[in-house]
Amino acid sequence: MNYSGFRIFTMQTRTLSLALLSLTLGAATAALAQPAAPVQPQTPLTWAYGVNTPGVNLPAATGPQHVPDSKLELVFPRDRFSPPDWHPEDHPAMPPVVASGHAPQVMACAYCHLPNGQGRPENASLAGLSADYIKQQLADYRASLRKSAEPQMSPPSLMQAIGLNTTAEEAEQAASYFAGLQPRRWIRVVETASVPETVVSGWMYIPKPGTAVKEPIANRILEMPENLERTELRDSRSSFVAYVPVGSIARGKQLANGNGGLASACSACHGADLRGLGPVPRLAGRSPSYLARQLYDLQTSNRKGLWSPLMTAVVAKLTPEDMLALAAYIASLEP
Ligand code: HEC
Ligand code: HEC
Repeated sequence: MNYSGFRIFTMQTRTLSLALLSLTLGAATAALAQPAAPVQPQTPLTWAYGVNTPGVNLPAATGPQHVPDSKLELVFPRDRFSPPDWHPEDHPAMPPVVASGHAPQVMACAYCHLPNGQGRPENASLAGLSADYIKQQLADYRASLRKSAEPQMSPPSLMQAIGLNTTAEEAEQAASYFAGLQPRRWIRVVETASVPETVVSGWMYIPKPGTAVKEPIANRILEMPENLERTELRDSRSSFVAYVPVGSIARGKQLANGNGGLASACSACHGADLRGLGPVPRLAGRSPSYLARQLYDLQTSNRKGLWSPLMTAVVAKLTPEDMLALAAYIASLEP
């Protein structure tokens, strides 16, 4: 298999360490940690399951911080029970489990999924999913029926612990909160032949600090922050860009319409425009990394919730390239 992302992971530790020594990011310097063993990916979709590149440590923000279009001054660092809410006017009042959660296991939903439910590539957007669907997923996590095919990626494991420890009442409150939010365009999908060299930090692809070198995109989607600094501050208005291979959107559209040998069109269950139908989740405009992870997790039965059997025939014959194309196309749709 020729995934060029793989190169980053298999690079000799020594070379990687030396390369990282000279990296800088704006004023900040990427510090060098103890050399760690290179990670061997557990799935063919390395690009969808971001596993941190050993030795890359972006400096954490400390002290009073600001983001554009917010009058607030928030003090960092913040823990997972006090996520920043830069734009309170963008959403209704958050129930306690969303705003702050409770120690030790139930971290604030808003820390990862953001107060407006738009989410990040390493987790999932929740805005506008039906309350029944959200509750069913929490029940599946509780019953250990949703796992990740990539055990080295820790956010999905954290989500399992959260599902396990969320009470029925909290699940109800969180579900109705996120179901009531309006999903909005969040990912700019760009077809391209070449992409910036990348590393994975915070389970997310970011341009390799200190270099402007480009490399072929190959068989990958690379989803990254439009503005790394704002994303690091968890600014819920700072969105993402996804670079996808040339031609993948058209190929994905064909597959999604049932013209690629798949049993039925996705819209049969996910609704016209793939914006969801009853409890079946909306897909349009969501993170391509997340979508591809779910297709692969469903195919490999790492995800086998109560409703997952409805997807069994759909994913059975998909190749990693099919999953990439479907993810590129669906992410490009208006949410
Ligand atoms: C530590 C980060 C983190 C926190 C905090 C968190 N989640 Fe998640 N959540 C995730 C990740 C990561 C995934 C996606 C896992 C994957 O890729 O398979 C996820 C997925 C989900 C999904 C599945 C979405 C879908 O479309 O199927 C739901 C529902 C969900 N979370 C609800 C919640 C709720 C409710 C809370 C608060 C009680 C919460 N999460 C807190 C990280 C988090
Ligand atoms: C027969 C009905 C049906 C068809 C056809 C179908 N889906 Fe699904 N899909 C579902 C259901 C139901 C779920 C929720 C599964 C679960 O809860 O585990 C789902 C879940 C998903 C998810 C995970 C969403 C999330 O929020 O985690 C993705 C991605 C997905 N489908 C993609 C597709 C694509 C792409 C197609 C077409 C190629 C398709 N589906 C066709 C019923 C269907």
